[in-house]
Amino acid sequence: MDPAREAALVAAARRAREHAVCSYSGFAVGAALETKEGAVFGGCNVENGTYGLTVCAERVAIWKALSEGVREFRAVAVVTGAPEPTPPCGACRQILWEFAGDIEVVSSTLEGRTKRFHLHELLPEPFEFDKDMSGNRKP
Ligand code: THU
Repeated sequence: MDPAREAALVAAARRAREHAVCSYSGFAVGAALETKEGAVFGGCNVENGTYGLTVCAERVAIWKALSEGVREFRAVAVVTGAPEPTPPCGACRQILWEFAGDIEVVSSTLEGRTKRFHLHELLPEPFEFDKDMSGNRKP
């Protein structure tokens, strides 16, 4: 990705991280999803008292974008306070694949350590409903 675009996307993820609702884990995550047109949707993790209903920052960002009618994406940035960059969790990889396809993924720490991927590297054998299931429905 162009360095200026990447820096802007990572900065947006850092800003989104400021809003993390993470009193249970204490682990704040920010995500920023870039649309094909260059708009950016931020998201933070949102935890709650049932723990299991927590939603990751990446999914918050994509739910926001989808619910605004946006359907085409080109990159996502994720920022955490961990010592090493943390790529999206397995559930978020699957959701990002389904709705955003093989986008660029940039994982950064607050100190600026950065790893870059394409989503297919993080999810090499994705489940795809249409491809695998459409001809195989129970009659
Ligand atoms: N988390 C994210 O928001 N994104 C990830 O990719 C990994 C984990 C959140 C979920 C939970 O609120 C906290 O980080 C600790 O797992």
